[in-house]
Amino acid sequence: MARKKIAAANWKMYKTPQEAEAYFEEWEAPESKAEVVFFPSTILLDTVSMEISGGNVHFGAQNIHFEKEGAFTGETSPETVKSMGAQYALIGHSERRTLFGETNEITAKKVQAAQAAGLTPMLCIGETLAEREAGKTLDVVKKQLNEGLSTLDAKKPFVLAYEPVWAIGTGKVATPLEAEEVHAQIRAHLAEVLSKAISDTTPILYGGSVKPNNADELSQRPNIDGFLVGGASLKPEEFMQITDSLQA
Ligand code: PGA
Repeated sequence: MARKKIAAANWKMYKTPQEAEAYFEEWEAPESKAEVVFFPSTILLDTVSMEISGGNVHFGAQNIHFEKEGAFTGETSPETVKSMGAQYALIGHSERRTLFGETNEITAKKVQAAQAAGLTPMLCIGETLAEREAGKTLDVVKKQLNEGLSTLDAKKPFVLAYEPVWAIGTGKVATPLEAEEVHAQIRAHLAEVLSKAISDTTPILYGGSVKPNNADELSQRPNIDGFLVGGASLKPEEFMQITDSLQA
């Protein structure tokens, strides 16, 4: 069975509501059959939900809390995100891990909370430069997978994003070979710990300095099913070009 292709935009903490509206005056749904997912900052979820109109275009939160509701000042309930029409929750982005102390244990709770709320978790994994240079890429990624997916309901869909930390926001993209190698190993690992059917159908996106000029080559690799795009997703034209590189 063919896996779906996904182009996801991680807007991080950028854009005001006015800037988000201006973005959608320029952005057009792609010719490619790839699914598009916008991850705006939480405060822009409503604005984005009003700008996108069905089709194969969805949106989600960049982060959720692992409880449904409660006395958690400043946090965002997965149920609320879902009730706004979101389909996805990004979980365990490297900035959440490094800057906000998110552990594999927390990502596991969030994966569970997302699925319980009816959101599809998009779990981010990836090694630092020091870990890669020490030859530990696979160990790190497998641990993030094993622990982060320990609460997974494997009957429900989920998506993975492999984002080597050294490639995020640095302009240093993994080569198509480097990325494909890790993606293939992640897929093999999913087959081993979950099932071949799940491994065959779960999209694994690549993230880390994806730009219009490197997306084509990366998208041709058999185990790269799409992209999680930061910087280049802030510009409608660039994100559209990246999306169109995905032959769904
Ligand atoms: P980048 O960010 O495309 O700016 O490297 C990717 C990400 O953080 O998801």
